[in-house]
Amino acid sequence: MKTFTIGVIAGDGVGTEVVPQAKRVLERVAQKHSVTFAFQDFDWGADHFFRWGRMMPAGAIDLLQPCDAILLGAVGHPQIPDHTTLNGLLLPIRRAFDQFANVRPAYLYPGVQSPLARPKGGEIDMVVVRENTEGEYAQVGGFVYQHQPEEVAIQTSVFTRRGVERIIRFAFELAIRRNKKKRVTSITKSNAQGHSMVLWDRTFRDVAAQYPDIETESLLVDAAAMNFIRRPESFDVVVGSNLFGDILSDISAIIIGSMGLAASANLDPLRRFPSMFEPVHGSAPDIAGKGIVNPLATILSAGMMLEHLEMTDAAQQVESAVAAVLADGNVRTPDLGGSSSTEEVTTAVVEKLG
Ligand code: NAD
Ligand code: IPM
Ligand code: MN
Repeated sequence: MKTFTIGVIAGDGVGTEVVPQAKRVLERVAQKHSVTFAFQDFDWGADHFFRWGRMMPAGAIDLLQPCDAILLGAVGHPQIPDHTTLNGLLLPIRRAFDQFANVRPAYLYPGVQSPLARPKGGEIDMVVVRENTEGEYAQVGGFVYQHQPEEVAIQTSVFTRRGVERIIRFAFELAIRRNKKKRVTSITKSNAQGHSMVLWDRTFRDVAAQYPDIETESLLVDAAAMNFIRRPESFDVVVGSNLFGDILSDISAIIIGSMGLAASANLDPLRRFPSMFEPVHGSAPDIAGKGIVNPLATILSAGMMLEHLEMTDAAQQVESAVAAVLADGNVRTPDLGGSSSTEEVTTAVVEKLG
């Protein structure tokens, strides 16, 4: 029987509520497909910080390295500055394992109401591909005269030809694999940022020339934000830098009905290191501990993990089970207008899995 070792970091806030639900679904998948998921739980996050002064131990990356994949809930605590928690846990993992492709699908499931007036189920079907290791998140910079009136902060973006080219190429390959609208939209701000974004635009044109069957579009990020609202049905694969991809993937999440439906994969497409699967949302302190957080984003992220582990049928079954629960419309958490609990939604998914 095949065994997959899954590193599990539930993290903070609602992360600790949604991750056990995704594990329930994976346990059912394991029974049906005669595999074993050996979950290795790591109690890293804010509580670890309060106790030890750091979000994860010094050897954390070495502990995760042998895993086949990583499942993560969310990171962030109201009493710790966000740059401390996120730079202490989530972001270093993405970089250490060179998970350069952050894949964030947005599909409007039949039966779910978009906050936009027009779209109907199935009409929004796009994926934001976000560069995940450099760009605006490179953490290059510093303070001068810190905490003094003349304080200076410098935060430098880092765009490498290698980094830009590999994420753009990934986006084109994904458009081919998806075999849907066969369109890649590139996002920049080259009218204002005349170095990094010009390199990006030029690289996009160079790579696009190698994919004549894929339609292309290049948008400025402000116009893209508008067009995600105005014509969401026109997008297929959208590729952007670390920061632009972050912002746009919150828009793509809410137009499909809820942050609680937005899944994501942090992939090392070269499979040198474990990839990491997590919902797009954060630790949601406003609803944490109430048992009402929507578990579907994390369950769908676990589905993306199954796909990465080459359990394609199982991945499809998880996605179909989620779609069936949403289509029924009876069992929903409050973010989708229902009154069911986190646990009841998961139970409905497990039942659909059969
Ligand atoms: P958030 O995503 O946690 O929450 C935004 C809003 O969406 C809140 O009103 C929340 O209740 C709602 N929401 C999010 N997920 C939901 C779900 N599954 N079901 C129902 N409602 C849901 O973003 P935020 O409030 O800006 O950030 C809170 C904390 O999380 C901060 O510390 C932030 O830095 C961190 N954060 C972490 C991650 C991550 O770990 N990947 C991502 C985003 C934010
Ligand atoms: C996300 C989050 C993180 C990011 C934050 C919490 C650092 O917003 O995964 O979208 O910007 O990458
Ligand atoms: Mn984000």
